[in-house]
Amino acid sequence: MTTTLRTPVAIVGAGPAGLLLAHLLDEAGIDSIVVDLRTQGEIESTIRAGILEQGTVELLDRLGEHSRARIVGHRHDGIELRFDGEGHRIDFPSLTGRSAWLYPQHEVLKDLIAARVAAGQDLRFGVTVTGIDESDQEHPRVLAVDADGKELVIEADFVVGADGSRSVVRPSVVGSMQGGYFREYPFAWFGILCEAPPSSNELIYSNSPDGFALISQRSETVQRMYFQCDPKLDPSSLSETEVWENIQKRVPGTDLIEGPIFQRDVLRFRSFVSHGMRKHRIAIIGDAAHTVPPTGAKGMNLAVADVALLHEALRALLQENDSRLIDTFEQRAMQRIWKAQHFSWWMTSMLHVTDDASDFDRRRQLGELRSIAQSTAGQTYLAEAYTGWPI
Ligand code: DHB
Repeated sequence: MTTTLRTPVAIVGAGPAGLLLAHLLDEAGIDSIVVDLRTQGEIESTIRAGILEQGTVELLDRLGEHSRARIVGHRHDGIELRFDGEGHRIDFPSLTGRSAWLYPQHEVLKDLIAARVAAGQDLRFGVTVTGIDESDQEHPRVLAVDADGKELVIEADFVVGADGSRSVVRPSVVGSMQGGYFREYPFAWFGILCEAPPSSNELIYSNSPDGFALISQRSETVQRMYFQCDPKLDPSSLSETEVWENIQKRVPGTDLIEGPIFQRDVLRFRSFVSHGMRKHRIAIIGDAAHTVPPTGAKGMNLAVADVALLHEALRALLQENDSRLIDTFEQRAMQRIWKAQHFSWWMTSMLHVTDDASDFDRRRQLGELRSIAQSTAGQTYLAEAYTGWPI
């Protein structure tokens, strides 16, 4: 028994990109069906990054009462760059007139799911997509198995893969899973969540001879911190004391407030940009099309920027039969994607220390950090990229 559904837009993946796209399409009167492999509980509890660009918050405002970003989240008007034993504040509003918000991705997802459920829109969890049938270019079909093990076919006017870095939809757009530009880094982040008050008002990005650390936050009582580590490190192999020693020595000059660690993970660093984002009536967005290393928190923000372009292109295509925006979608999206790739790579390489760094490399890196911290032009570039280029 196969269930066959018809919809204007089939969206694979109920992450930030897929759910926000569905919301903006609904605003324009375009129905969609969103499916995801995971359960709602898994989606709402996966720990990811916590910084939203100003443009991301403005787009989330369109969820109305469902967006809690400005209520539960916190506006951040700057960050501290710390190196060579000193802190240097980058003040966002005076440099760019913009800010960033601390509001974790899983909270954004709760808001997006609540808005979709409240509007009575079609959202299905536990659905395994097995492939895309492209035999009719005008009407691609999503082939899937639903949560009860029944076959499901979704016939659409357009299919969007917002299904993350292991995207099932990507091969339909670029011919293979690996079709893209790729870079791996020789380090990872050890991330923790701990019960403690904030150690600082703003985030600290710290370069030290022992490597990088990031002092982020979550709330008045829970903090998120990261330190550079070997990608092969088993997160359970360090004692709590060793974790704190590692973090403290990478932020010399600040006494971090410690507390019980209740979550730990090791995040791999990868840069990837797919060779393409659209073929006929199939597109990929967000992590399905590109991933960045976490330094600077561009991942979710870049996914949201893809959505901002794609929802307008789909409106023109599906409501006015105007293909001009969809024809230029990839080229326009790629401009921002490569700027964000550069920023994420630059923040990463400027702040981390590799095992094979020579004395020259180390001194050059401090020269680079000083070039930013002591120059309004340098600070402005960082602040523009961090708070997000206007969408
Ligand atoms: C966080 C993650 C980042 O990659 C970053 O640059 C800033 C904050 C976070 O998880 O809080």
